[in-house]
Amino acid sequence: MTAPRVCASIVGGKPVEGDVASTLSSTNPARLSDVVAEVSLASSRTFLEASRVAKQAQRDWARVPAPVRGRVVAEIGRIVEANKEPLARLVTREVGKPLAESLGEVQEIIDTCDFFLGEGRRLYGETVPSEMRDKALFTFRVPVGSVAVVTAGNFPVAVPSWYLVPALLCGNSVVWKPAEYSAAVATALFECFVAGGLPEGVLNLVLADGAETFGGLEAALAEAVVDKVGFTGSSAVGSRIGELCGRYVQSACLELGGKNPMVIMPDADLDLAVEGALFSGFGTAGQRCTSLGTAIVHESLHDEFLERLLERLDSAPLGDPFEPVLYGPMLDERFAVRFLEYLATLVEPHHRLLGASSPGRITSASPRAGFVGDPDEGVFCHPAVVDGVRLEDELARTETFGPLVGVATFGSFEEAMELANCSGYGLSSSIYTDSPKAAFEFRRLISAGMVSVNNSTSGAEAHLPFGGNGRSGNGSRQSGKWVLDQMTRWQSMNWDYSGRLQKAQMDTDTIVADREFQVLP
Ligand code: UN1
Repeated sequence: MTAPRVCASIVGGKPVEGDVASTLSSTNPARLSDVVAEVSLASSRTFLEASRVAKQAQRDWARVPAPVRGRVVAEIGRIVEANKEPLARLVTREVGKPLAESLGEVQEIIDTCDFFLGEGRRLYGETVPSEMRDKALFTFRVPVGSVAVVTAGNFPVAVPSWYLVPALLCGNSVVWKPAEYSAAVATALFECFVAGGLPEGVLNLVLADGAETFGGLEAALAEAVVDKVGFTGSSAVGSRIGELCGRYVQSACLELGGKNPMVIMPDADLDLAVEGALFSGFGTAGQRCTSLGTAIVHESLHDEFLERLLERLDSAPLGDPFEPVLYGPMLDERFAVRFLEYLATLVEPHHRLLGASSPGRITSASPRAGFVGDPDEGVFCHPAVVDGVRLEDELARTETFGPLVGVATFGSFEEAMELANCSGYGLSSSIYTDSPKAAFEFRRLISAGMVSVNNSTSGAEAHLPFGGNGRSGNGSRQSGKWVLDQMTRWQSMNWDYSGRLQKAQMDTDTIVADREFQVLP
């Protein structure tokens, strides 16, 4: 076992020593005796201080030409690429994601850097024609200022990079507060960014619990040292953050939960759909915001779908995430506790609970055939497939954030759409069909920000807009060129070189038309 790392907040390039509100041990969820990091959690004071430092450092960083900032992003990408394997192993060790998924997660950082390094030479503004002679109009993208980024631990490095990379490229400074239970890998990513050449204070790391972070954010907003907030996490916390930002006339970038539907049409390739349901329902133990919530299956395919899904699930290896398993442990004990509560409260008498002979935790007393490793060493949960989900069920509208897939049936396309939209979330969605008409109708009618056709609800590419509607977010989008609208503000400029005061709307040329004109019959 490797010795635990010692992790603390880093503000202005220096570790914070004098402010320890509490401590925690970040443990490997597949083997709880393996302590990955001893973490000092700071108080709201450090969050406020980091915001002040970031606000100060931003001015000089914004003066660095964007193509040069792009070079820094390029270097960060190369450093992450060179460290792909150790970084991925640390993701797996600290949050229990299977190694193949962790490698994919680190690749997502590299892809994000590759996209934005070129944006440093673009960041285009426009020249716009004026309604008057001898006058020119322009638009410029300007950095928002200092950005507070608060992220979850299920994607402990990829999702943070979706904020950090474009924020920094656009000339902003950042205070980043990662999830406490992924402090070691967050610190490692922070170090890669610093190694890329960022000046001190441009990126700051604050390790703190939720309450202290909220308090610090409130104080920083009141002092006007935070100009933008990015938050990825639960809808409940997101709505509190949105409310707080609203008080300071700011709109946060909110990426929240999902209850992502998968509609399986009568003409679907069933094997493909089963494969997609298995990956998006149980990959990362169902703890992605894009995880499959409910499979909505045409009645003609229902029995066959269920049988094949259960067959695949039964034969899938679970356990040690360093081995090729379908899924490993829960991210942290708290997620297991909450998942088991959902299992106990949301499964109703009209449901059939399938997928495991004794649902709940996997232990030596409640074993799973073919388990890889020792379940008693970590936090593992049996998979659950809940058949018979109906429109009015709580389960149809609750994100369970664990290895659980609901199954509902439909007769008409209208019924399928009603089920697909019933949760009030609107993040990801999927349809399996051969019919272009069904695919495009689904796209038109689904409330989700992201739509997959013949692909699962998970696995968004890093350069398409990522984000949701309704309870999934306030309409902000990350990734690709679309996130630039979160990380910059448009500034318009007009330049009159006529030497006169030309008044808009009043001093414009007029050209007279013959409104009476009619084409001869
Ligand atoms: C998340 O779960 O917060 O599309 C992000 C996917 C990943 C990102 C998920 N690329 O599943």
